[in-house]
Parts: sequence; C-alpha cells; structure tokens
Amino acid sequence: MVNAVEWKKGAVRLLDQTKLPTEVIFVDCTDVETVARGIKELWVRGAPAIGITAAYGIALAAQKISAQSFDDFYKQLLPSCDLLAATRPTAVNLFWAIQRMKETAQAHRTESPEALKKIMLDEAHAILQEDIEMNRAIGKFGAALIEAGDGVLTHCNAGALATGGYGTALGVIRSAWEANKKIAVYADETRPVLQGARLTAWELVQDSIPVTVITDNMAGFFMRRGKIQRCVVGADRIAANGDTANKIGTYSVAVLAKEHGIPFYVAAPYSTIDFSISSGDEIPIEERNQAELTHIAGNQIWATGATTANPAFDVTPAKYITAIITDKGVFKPEEIVRLKPSKRG
Ligand code: MRU
Repeated sequence: MVNAVEWKKGAVRLLDQTKLPTEVIFVDCTDVETVARGIKELWVRGAPAIGITAAYGIALAAQKISAQSFDDFYKQLLPSCDLLAATRPTAVNLFWAIQRMKETAQAHRTESPEALKKIMLDEAHAILQEDIEMNRAIGKFGAALIEAGDGVLTHCNAGALATGGYGTALGVIRSAWEANKKIAVYADETRPVLQGARLTAWELVQDSIPVTVITDNMAGFFMRRGKIQRCVVGADRIAANGDTANKIGTYSVAVLAKEHGIPFYVAAPYSTIDFSISSGDEIPIEERNQAELTHIAGNQIWATGATTANPAFDVTPAKYITAIITDKGVFKPEEIVRLKPSKRG
C-alpha cells in the first residue's frame, strides 16, 4: 500500500488522490503553500491524513526559518499554521495537529532555533507513527464486532489513503479479513467526489479483499435484501455527545441502518474527538466548489441555470450510532466523553 503522506528528502510527499484510480502520481511539496493547496484541492484528504499533512507542512516551514531567538522563530512559524488552518474547516484532526505542533514548539522554547527544526520534524513523524498504531488498535477492537459471512457497508474512504496507514473503518475491515473472517464489502461510490468508487475500492482491490461498488442510493435496496449486516464508517469530527460529522451521505446510511436493525459503527482515533463542543450542531460544515457536482471528468452533468448546493459533510446524530470504535476501545456514543483527558495533550 502506498503512503498518502510522507517526509521524503526534505519535502512533504503527497499521493495525488485526485488522479486515482487510474494514475498513481506523487507530488513533492517543497513549501508550505503547496502543502496547503494539496489539502484544499484534495490531493490528500481524510481527517487523520489532513492532520498529519499539516504537521509535516509546519515542520517544512520550520526548516526554512532563519531566526536568532525562540520568539522570532515562533513568530515566523505562525503564518504557516494559520495558512494550513484555513484549508478545510470540518475535520478536527487538522486543528488538533496544528495545536500539537505549536505546543511542541512552546514546550521547547529554551532550545536554539536550529534544534527546534529537528524537534518539529520529529513531532510530525511521531504524529504519523501514532496514527498508524491507533488504526491498528481500532482495527483489532472493531474486528471483534464483525462476523464471518457479514456484508459490510462503508461510505467514503476511511482507509490507508485517509490516514497514516491501515485506515480506521477500512482498518476494521482489514483486521476482520486478516482474522480470516470472509466478509463481503459494499462501498458506496460517494458522490460527488467518488471517494468510495475511486479510493476505497482501489485500496481493497490492492489487498485482494472482495468489494462491490454501489451507488449511494442503492444502500437501502441491499439492506432490505439482507446483504448488509454491518455498517462501518470513519469520522471527521465527533462531538462530546457522540454526534458525528462524516462525508455527506453518512447520515442517510445511518438512518437506513436503524430502520433495518443493522448495527452502525463509527471508527475513529482519539484525535477526531472534539471535546470542546457539546453537540454536532456546532460542527462547521464545509461547502465545496459547485464544479464537483456539476461536472464529472470535465463533462457537464447538470442543467445550466439550476442552482446547486455542495455540503461536503453531514452530521449523524448519536442516536443512530450503535458504537464508536476508538483506539482505546469500543464505546457507546454517550460514553465517548469518558475519554476526555483532564487536560488535552
Ligand atoms: O472530503 P474527504 O475525502 O476529506 O472526506 C473524508 C471522510 O469523510 C472520511 O470518512 C473521514 O475523514 C474519515 S478518514 C479516516
């Protein structure tokens, strides 16, 4: 499996996911502006991967700073943090990673600016490594909830491509598969950007895990036919009450699952939980470019003159979520608040 983001020869290497599944192309970002563009334009996407990329973007910016004091170093670093924070509003991992990088710098304020450059890069490496480990743990906890023979529906892409590696929702699926549970994966294509058809299906095909791509409006059909026994999705931000923002269309799947008595699981690492907000109503929802909806591969598919709307995420209320699978274990949505640390690290 290729890496969505990595540090390569002094640059932030991103897999350009807009080119998948037909082309595997990497972009070496040598300045923070290009990193920010990569996040905004979806070369890299998925909540944990966005956070990791921002951390590397800050580390990259740090390498270019010429400063005599900590205050000077930090002052020069802040505009890069602000630039990255302005890329996408919904995934809280972005803000979590930026905050962690800032706190790391502050915690080492007595170090020389030269030493800080390495400290910042080491912290970005640590964020990446921790994410992979968290995904492995999520996979292990989640696999226990999947039975051999299950049909498992997922929405969007919460796989290796959306994380440091292995994936959250796809981590659960991978882990179940590795435990020899023969499952049938159904991937919603995920309009408008088709993360399911292009990315989830691509990843699973690479791993030889059987996957069937369906259009988003087919989920109810297959549930009613008894083909789906579990739903597993990722998350962009989980509020303290368990309400969960994820790719647009997730809410509809959750409501359908409840109607059919099918367990609906959210898989996400600790970095996706936003304890500062009490409900999903407070989650900012990104509105993306209308061209994502009006055109496919450059071909117009909407009638000129009609208005369009393109919210990139929706919020699934906690009452539709059977459990949240985290790196610390499996929790009911209302229990997630128990993970809140006395002080965030
Ligand atoms: O717009 P995207 O592709 O960044 O949206 C991604 C999702 O909604 C994922 O499901 C979510 O970030 C979880 S990724 C582990």
